[in-house]
Amino acid sequence: MLPLFHELEKSLPSRIIFSLAKRPYRTASFVLFLVLASILWVYHAIAAESFITLFNSGLSTQVFGPGGGRHNGSAPGLHKPVGIPMKIWQIMLPKPRDDGPPHPPDPAQLQDTPSWLVLNPDYKYTLVGERGGIEFVDKNFADQPAIIDTYKRLQNMGMKSDLLRYLLLYIEGGVYTDTDTVAIKGVDEWVPDFIKSEVNLVVGIEFDRRDGAAWAEIPHWLQFCQWTIAAKPKHPVFQMMVQRALYSIDLLSTEVYDSPLDSISPTSFEVMNSTGPAAWTDVVFEYLQQLDPSLEDTKDLSFMTGPRLIGDVLVLNIDGFGMGQQHSKSTNDGTIPSQALVKHLFRGSWRS
Ligand SMILES: *[C@@H]1O[C@H](CO)[C@@H](O)[C@H](O)[C@H]1NC(C)=O
Ligand SMILES: *[C@@H]1O[C@H](CO)[C@@H](O)[C@H](O)[C@H]1NC(C)=O
Repeated sequence: MLPLFHELEKSLPSRIIFSLAKRPYRTASFVLFLVLASILWVYHAIAAESFITLFNSGLSTQVFGPGGGRHNGSAPGLHKPVGIPMKIWQIMLPKPRDDGPPHPPDPAQLQDTPSWLVLNPDYKYTLVGERGGIEFVDKNFADQPAIIDTYKRLQNMGMKSDLLRYLLLYIEGGVYTDTDTVAIKGVDEWVPDFIKSEVNLVVGIEFDRRDGAAWAEIPHWLQFCQWTIAAKPKHPVFQMMVQRALYSIDLLSTEVYDSPLDSISPTSFEVMNSTGPAAWTDVVFEYLQQLDPSLEDTKDLSFMTGPRLIGDVLVLNIDGFGMGQQHSKSTNDGTIPSQALVKHLFRGSWRS
């Protein structure tokens, strides 16, 4: 068998030359085809990953709409994308009672936290309490005494928790989520891989007026939620938000109530419009307008049916963080829509 094989091998080149001479055009095209096919195959084998990523990201710009330009020429797919830090933050501050000592802690307050743990193994989970909040603020904002002072003197636990989440996400990044939220998808799945590197902030919508009536105490056409926020550290939106919160809190103390901060009891609207979702919506929208000057009003984000990438912000449509509500075309038929990442249970009584 071996000699025969050898024989064949030896004769092969001469056969090719022979047939080339006989049918030059057809054979030359065939050889050319073989060479091109091999080059393509080798290229594909080496660059399969980046090839697919490039294809996907071309697609993504269409799926996610305008505004999603790449940062720079660094080749996608060659490095593992840098996503949101693997940290989950919850805040549990004692709710003061006028008529006695604070309520004793109840494990039921954290009954939904296991959903976050089980869907996010290897994430660092931190429940920030009263002492941790003070230590964190003292340690990180020593050069900004107004932040420390305001944080310590705020008596409204809702406002305190609002302010603390912005400060935590600014310094540490990760996901902040209220204790009355249920995780539906692991955080790794919130941002598709092909845009993980460029998404620095993920915000959800809690209310979209669409073509309906205004909602009590919601001043915007569309309101972003702050019961869940995901961010990379040092995002400028939190600097803007903390500035806004300090400004609004100072206004409440000096003008609206004309009393020291530690003695005022703001209304629920004042909470929402100083540190809460109305103020957050003002600030996020102002930031989005810097990225996309064609945005004039939150109404321009109404009727979204899928996530939208605006600069470095991934804005989720209502079902992302706000499924199960009776407005805003939120899915509310007992099913869990595929776009849902988080469910908010509205158990909190943060307003008082
Ligand atoms: C390009 O992007 C990479 C990763 O996002 C970043 O580290 C780098 O600083 C950027 N370079 C420029 C010139 O913007
Ligand atoms: C909300 O607060 C801002 C800043 O403190 C203020 O300018 C604005 O008028 C307030 N909105 C309403 C509807 O009161």
